Amino acid sequence: MRNPSEYPATIARFYDVIYAHLRTVDRDFFLKKILGTKGPVLEIGVGTGRFFLDAVNDGADIYGIDVSATMLEQLRAKLDKSLHHRVFRQDARSLNLEKKFDLVVAPFRVFSHLIDVEDQLQVLNNIHDHLSPGGKFIFDLYVPDLGILQHGIDEQIDFDGEYAPGKKLRRVVSARPDFINQISDITMTLTWDEDDGLRTEQWHTSMRFFFRYELEHLISRSKLTLEHIYGDYEEHELSGESKDFIIVCRRG
Ligand SMILES: C[S@@+](CC[C@H](N)C(=O)[O-])C[C@H]1O[C@@H](n2cnc3c(N)ncnc32)[C@H](O)[C@@H]1O
Repeated sequence: MRNPSEYPATIARFYDVIYAHLRTVDRDFFLKKILGTKGPVLEIGVGTGRFFLDAVNDGADIYGIDVSATMLEQLRAKLDKSLHHRVFRQDARSLNLEKKFDLVVAPFRVFSHLIDVEDQLQVLNNIHDHLSPGGKFIFDLYVPDLGILQHGIDEQIDFDGEYAPGKKLRRVVSARPDFINQISDITMTLTWDEDDGLRTEQWHTSMRFFFRYELEHLISRSKLTLEHIYGDYEEHELSGESKDFIIVCRRG
């Protein structure tokens, strides 16, 4: 069991600014699933609350867990105090909540942070044990990009803007491939303006890539039942054009 991928404070601080631009494709899908569920919902890897905040403010009975204190700090700063009891610092690998949930979601490839197969199975089984009978687990993963897996990414600027008026922020991403282990070793370099000058910080993390039939086999080894793997957030079937796996499992 490897250490969980803790997001450093700087990554957490700029997460919302960066992903407000880079990640909108999944938004309607997950919010619709969460708000369409009558009973309690759990978001695993709730992060800074990209879904959680709108969901809870729109009346969802939603709870969230995340392993990163830095991400939860950002979320709590935006969340009314009366709702703080809905958010817990927990590792999905040792998930332990008293409630059962009608829906568990893990949006934006949270599952890619689980490098080892025993951790992946443990998380699937923990989620199973926290679902009500017939409850669903919905998560997403990137369809592996073979070019990136074989050749990596060389210093690609994926955000170049401002995090506040007049304050510049740039993110550069590199990835070193480890094809046989299906891992991308990623380096993110953030450079930003502070009042006293320019700062730079780097973060190294690993992301696991999953193939379609590997996912099917993995889930069939767990206590969950696979219902469907869609190829996008509009629930189209998988095809050669698919960029995302949207995986729907259920208890029972
Ligand atoms: C890419 S972020 C996604 C955050 C949020 N779901 C969103 O869509 O913006 C992945 C999140 O998963 C969390 N995470 C990674 N490994 C985890 C684990 N083992 N248990 C709980 N959370 C984990 C990270 O701390 C991070 O906040």
